[in-house]
Amino acid sequence: MILKNKNVVITGAASGIGLGLVKRFAKEDLNSLHLLDISPNIFSIATQYNANGYMVDVTNEEQVAIVIKKIIENDGSIDIYCSNAGYQKLGTLDISNDEWDKMWQINVMSHVYAARNLFNEMIKNKGGYFLITVSAAGLLNMNGSLGYATTKHAAVGLAENFSIMYDSKGIKISILCPQLVDTDMLRLADNISRDHPLFIDGILSPEEVAECALKGIEDESFLILPHQQVKKYIQFKSADYEKWLKSFSQLVENEK
Ligand SMILES: NC(=O)c1ccc[n+]([C@@H]2O[C@H](COP(=O)([O-])OP(=O)(O)OC[C@H]3O[C@@H](n4cnc5c(N)ncnc54)[C@H](O)[C@@H]3O)[C@@H](O)[C@H]2O)c1
Repeated sequence: MILKNKNVVITGAASGIGLGLVKRFAKEDLNSLHLLDISPNIFSIATQYNANGYMVDVTNEEQVAIVIKKIIENDGSIDIYCSNAGYQKLGTLDISNDEWDKMWQINVMSHVYAARNLFNEMIKNKGGYFLITVSAAGLLNMNGSLGYATTKHAAVGLAENFSIMYDSKGIKISILCPQLVDTDMLRLADNISRDHPLFIDGILSPEEVAECALKGIEDESFLILPHQQVKKYIQFKSADYEKWLKSFSQLVENEK
């Protein structure tokens, strides 16, 4: 998709990868840029990047619907929607049901709420772009983060289904799947061991991830992999599922 003159929305835009996307999109000749976040910081960030800020909880469908409607009324369309906000609670069977629900709402349902209020408008407008920030954990799993990895797998399934159902109607879908990125989410997960397999491939900056995301949107690639090694891991997984599981399990054992 050509980015010039487009109306763009980014959720989770107040920090991390979302803020990286803001900085990168702000360099393009857009028609408008709209930033959504649950944090009140979104207003000062919007001012800084000549954008419009909205304090919105993306797990509240009513709030999401109101903002989408308002932007379309003002600007005529939303052409690119980056559904980026996400949440991780580390843990395994000890994660509380409330934390599972929170991850399910943010990592899966927030995309459903946005799509439900947006896709018909995009179809009327003869197309649009919906980018979901997932994670390599949604493709390759992640030990020590059961709820996050599971909900991110669900997000991959959701995005595939969107692509299958809506590509022919002009809606292009991408999943942005980095491994580790230098954001608050990673800093809060400071109890992840530095021997965790994820650290092997290094930590990218939000700006590097945003650069890949915009290239992916321009190329209309479904799968956007800022860490190139992930492609090799997916190929290994699909070529020999049993061997992949055993190797991963061995890596986890070695970590102890
Ligand atoms: N940091 C990583 O290593 C990494 C790796 C792969 C994928 N991701 C994904 O990238 C996305 C962005 O994460 P990040 O690392 O930039 O984290 P972050 O914590 O820096 O940023 C998340 C942003 O989302 C906002 N947010 C959280 N809940 C919200 C809600 N209910 N409504 C609106 N906004 C909300 C937060 O206020 C924050 O500004 C997430 O989907 C995450 O799962 C992160």
